[in-house]
Amino acid sequence: MLESLNNYWNSMLPEQVSTWAAQVDWINALINNISLLSIVLITGAMLYFCVKYRKRTDNDVTCQISHDTRIETVWTVVPTIICLFMFYYGVVQYDEMRTPPANAIEINVEGYKWGWNYRHPSGKKDAKDLVVPVGKPVRLLMRSRDVLHSFFIPAMRVKEDVAANRYSYLWFTAEKEGKYPIFCAEYCGTSHSGMLGELTVVSAQEYQDYLSGRKLGEAADIPPEKLGELAYNKNGCMACHSLSGARVVGPSFKGLWGSERSFVEGEAVIADENYIKESIWYPNKLIVAGYPPNQMPAYKDQISEEDIDNLIAFMKTLK
Ligand code: CUA
Repeated sequence: MLESLNNYWNSMLPEQVSTWAAQVDWINALINNISLLSIVLITGAMLYFCVKYRKRTDNDVTCQISHDTRIETVWTVVPTIICLFMFYYGVVQYDEMRTPPANAIEINVEGYKWGWNYRHPSGKKDAKDLVVPVGKPVRLLMRSRDVLHSFFIPAMRVKEDVAANRYSYLWFTAEKEGKYPIFCAEYCGTSHSGMLGELTVVSAQEYQDYLSGRKLGEAADIPPEKLGELAYNKNGCMACHSLSGARVVGPSFKGLWGSERSFVEGEAVIADENYIKESIWYPNKLIVAGYPPNQMPAYKDQISEEDIDNLIAFMKTLK
């Protein structure tokens, strides 16, 4: 009975393709089952009491009802336990979904009105399809060129907002080769419903072929960290930020990625993509402890978002 009910819920969902799809669907079925049981019990009791205690004659007097501590305790404690039960399974799964493994392939995703651009670690760009290898964890590092979008791959059971001015990410491991639809799941304007994409999951060999598949005469793809190094030189970053660990005007880029930054104002953050982007765009927002303020101009309109992607990729190599 429970099994066929679970199969019924799952029959409405797309194919399970990511490593956690079955577990996500199990939690979904669990919540559906609990909700269904609650509807039957609560609505059933309500209808039963409506009939049983209906007004039978004009002389019926409504009795004075105060409260019953035992019943109130039961209807508070039991649903609380059920909710905690659902919360527990949800949190465990959520935690896994928010923790990409260190060896994940990182692909940049840019959302715009109305489409998606992808760039692979080799520098390979694709304005049409997202191609990933089967069985390998993939982390998508995402940003929007304009308004708020949301990257949704139902077959992988992942969905995440894609915003302007900040990075977001999601990750998954595809278990089956094939083609799966990608949707924008945030109303973003007239052609929102047409903002469709396709995920193509291929074998490791096919992925390598895809990455090196260039049209004749096309310039060689340059990996982002190399472009980041060019951007570092082109924008004059080296005047104030060394690569050797030496202190010049500002902090060195060496070892900066992923380190804890403490600020004049007192708080501290781990240097991630959003911190670095903000520090390039608005350098005076957070001043690293030990450095004077107003040493660096705001680069908000001086540097392209793609070059910031590249600079971040470059910084990640400066261990
Ligand atoms: Cu982009 Cu809806």
